[in-house]
Amino acid sequence: MNKLRLAVFASHEGSNMQSIIDASKQDKLQAEVVCVISNNSSSGALKRAENEGIAFYHVSVKTHPIEKDFSDKILEILNLHKVDLIILAGYMKKIPVEILKAYRNKILNIHPALLPKFGGKNMYGMNVHQAVIANGEKKSGATVHIVDENYDQGKILNQIEVVVLSDDTPETLAQRVLEVEHKIYVETIQKIIDGSILLQ
Ligand code: GRF
Repeated sequence: MNKLRLAVFASHEGSNMQSIIDASKQDKLQAEVVCVISNNSSSGALKRAENEGIAFYHVSVKTHPIEKDFSDKILEILNLHKVDLIILAGYMKKIPVEILKAYRNKILNIHPALLPKFGGKNMYGMNVHQAVIANGEKKSGATVHIVDENYDQGKILNQIEVVVLSDDTPETLAQRVLEVEHKIYVETIQKIIDGSILLQ
């Protein structure tokens, strides 16, 4: 069976991306990461891609100041690598509408909370965990969802809960959520391949 061809978009460390690559290498995932795109030239994600021998690209407002050129470049890379599914893993840039149209229902994101709570424009990184704790939530978690035109509002595909401990700081909570992110992202992609999660 042909493996699903994944592009990962990541801006930072790339630990979610690494968990997907590792699962693929261990045959726990019938998919392979065929290219990595980052808007951050010094991201850990690009270094990891290089170490893994995976094609990697820095595409940003620095390399492509005109929005249309930015989208065209990304679409060119996706076409070149015959990408089936785009995996956002800590990607800090809004996806241009041209890419959303070309890959409708084929772009996934992982969010470090239980959407629809704690999503939206400024809800990223440590802000999310700070808000969860400040709100006195008893549980948080991770959500994998389809990406559409609105931040964190696309169809929810899978969620996993993490208990918020009374002495949690945003950092300790973030660490436990990240651990489950690594599991749920791989699991969700494999369920899409199996047909038990539908992208529509
Ligand atoms: C993760 O918490 C993810 O949910 C969020 O950004 C973080 C990325 O971590 N969107 P990493 O780059 O995969 O290590």
